[in-house]
Amino acid sequence: MNYLWNDSLSGFWSAWVIVITLGSIGFAFWLLYANRRTDKTPDAEGNVETTGHAADGIEEYDNPLPRWWFQLYVATVVFALGYLLLYPGLGNFAGVLGWTQEGQWEEEVAEAEERFTPIFAQYEEIPIPDLAEDEEAMRVAERIYLNNCAVCHGSNARGGYGFPNLTDDNWLYGGEPEALLTTLHQGRNGLMPSWQQLGANNIENLTQHVLALSDLEHEEERADQGAAVYASVCAACHMPDGTGNQALGAPNLTNDIWLYQAPGQSVADSIRQTLRNGRNGHMPAQASYIGEERVHLVAAYVYSLRLEE
Ligand code: HEC
Ligand code: HEC
Repeated sequence: MNYLWNDSLSGFWSAWVIVITLGSIGFAFWLLYANRRTDKTPDAEGNVETTGHAADGIEEYDNPLPRWWFQLYVATVVFALGYLLLYPGLGNFAGVLGWTQEGQWEEEVAEAEERFTPIFAQYEEIPIPDLAEDEEAMRVAERIYLNNCAVCHGSNARGGYGFPNLTDDNWLYGGEPEALLTTLHQGRNGLMPSWQQLGANNIENLTQHVLALSDLEHEEERADQGAAVYASVCAACHMPDGTGNQALGAPNLTNDIWLYQAPGQSVADSIRQTLRNGRNGHMPAQASYIGEERVHLVAAYVYSLRLEE
């Protein structure tokens, strides 16, 4: 491989593109010259040449093209050829400037890194609660959030179906700096097993019991029966009183906040579905994508959200 040639296309397609591109330019140029007329003086009888087209008795003169138009046309052809010489465009010919999209992108990224790394390094020294109060830092952190987290947690960080709200005080794993950093460094995998094997009756009883835990409308008798099953199979993760366990990411079931309530779905149906199918929320580890320094900043951003509430 030569630096003037890359191998993005096979030889045949590369030649195909080159022939078609140069052929079209050549054809456009030929078309211009083949039809060119410079002479618009009338002939001996005073007749002006016409194209032979006529409509309602009005004939179309065959006058030469305006000079400026002609020159502009030639200039576009020259520009096209010059461009194709300097930049990639002709099949595998890389252009004499050696410009590539990747090259330009890498250059811009390197420039940005050079500019931001010292700023990030300085922020990394500041403890998260203090950093969260720093307006300047939080403006930078918000950009990081919007670019990397908003796809899942929403641009207002209020989450959605399966994606936790980061602005409230209800945490699966904890909202203190240490917990936030662990979430961002290692990612999280919430695992709620399926309880299909307990049978439809038990699932209904458990559903009524969970509704009761959140003080929602429920069937008393079933909820009481569900309580016993809850104590033996659910309490280990969600705690006997239902307040959850942040070490496991087992949500609090007593505050009427539901990670898995789909729009328009009743709470009872959402619980039934969770119990039948299980749930497995996955938060991807971020450090490898965005780097340590940004993790620190964006953790402070998440921390700052509750200060606004
Ligand atoms: C691909 C989607 C996705 C992206 C991108 C993502 N998250 Fe998450 N995040 C999740 C899911 C899903 C969970 C819940 C995991 C679970 O159910 O156990 C979560 C959980 C969290 C939690 C724990 C919340 C709690 O209640 O304890 C925090 C904090 C968090 N994410 C912050 C972020 C930040 C900051 C970013 C950007 C740097 C980010 N997330 C990017 C999907 C995502
Ligand atoms: C092994 C630990 C574990 C056990 C046992 C367990 N859960 Fe869970 N549960 C979880 C985890 C973790 C989540 C969160 C899943 C996620 O983040 O995707 C969860 C989620 C839930 C949810 C969804 C809450 C929401 O906000 O939408 C409900 C309801 C629930 N569990 C009820 C129960 C009931 C009832 C039982 C007993 C039959 C039970 N769980 C047993 C760990 C457990």
